[in-house]
Amino acid sequence: MATTILNHPLIDHKLTIMRNKETGTKEFRQNLDEIAMLMAYEVTKSLPLQNIEIVTPICPMTGKQLIRPVVLVPILRAGLGLVDGFKTIIPTAKVGHIGMSRNEETLQPEEYYAKFPSCLKEADVLVLDPMLATGGSACAAITNIKKRGAKNIKFACLVAAPEGIEVMEQKHPDVDLIVAALDEKLNEKGYIVPGLGDAGDRLFGTD
Ligand code: URA
Repeated sequence: MATTILNHPLIDHKLTIMRNKETGTKEFRQNLDEIAMLMAYEVTKSLPLQNIEIVTPICPMTGKQLIRPVVLVPILRAGLGLVDGFKTIIPTAKVGHIGMSRNEETLQPEEYYAKFPSCLKEADVLVLDPMLATGGSACAAITNIKKRGAKNIKFACLVAAPEGIEVMEQKHPDVDLIVAALDEKLNEKGYIVPGLGDAGDRLFGTD
């Protein structure tokens, strides 16, 4: 499986608006939503198809259809910001949710909420989180999604740190990783540099 860094001009333009600290909640959300649609196009590029016989108004033909259902899984809470854009492009997608938080004693990520559609095992599962920083919670979320039987998993994020990509490639080499932009590093507080700050806070207007 592979890591793809999109480096798409339209995404980079919109991402720069999101990164700007002067950008407010409304514009941040709107640009995230637009980027999510562009990312959905890229993330779904390799979904497998099967032949299907249909008849057009002119003649019979062999068409194509997706083999598997698509399940979106945002990691709470910032992942929620990518859901609408993906759903616009894949309106039949089911949506599961997973919430991860850090146990302050063990410092390990722990699941505090999970709910998945029954087709998870046979689906193409697209796990969504705008930021891949240390990779700790994303890796743990994917481990837990796999434990529930998911086999075909892709992870889509907007901004990644090299550290997060390395951890993900090591722990989940079978998971395709699609990243809109690769940033420089993590700072001592675990924020991506230059990044865009706390994606959840900026998306929901909390601070
Ligand atoms: N999560 C965020 O929202 N921002 C970062 O920079 C890192 C993790």
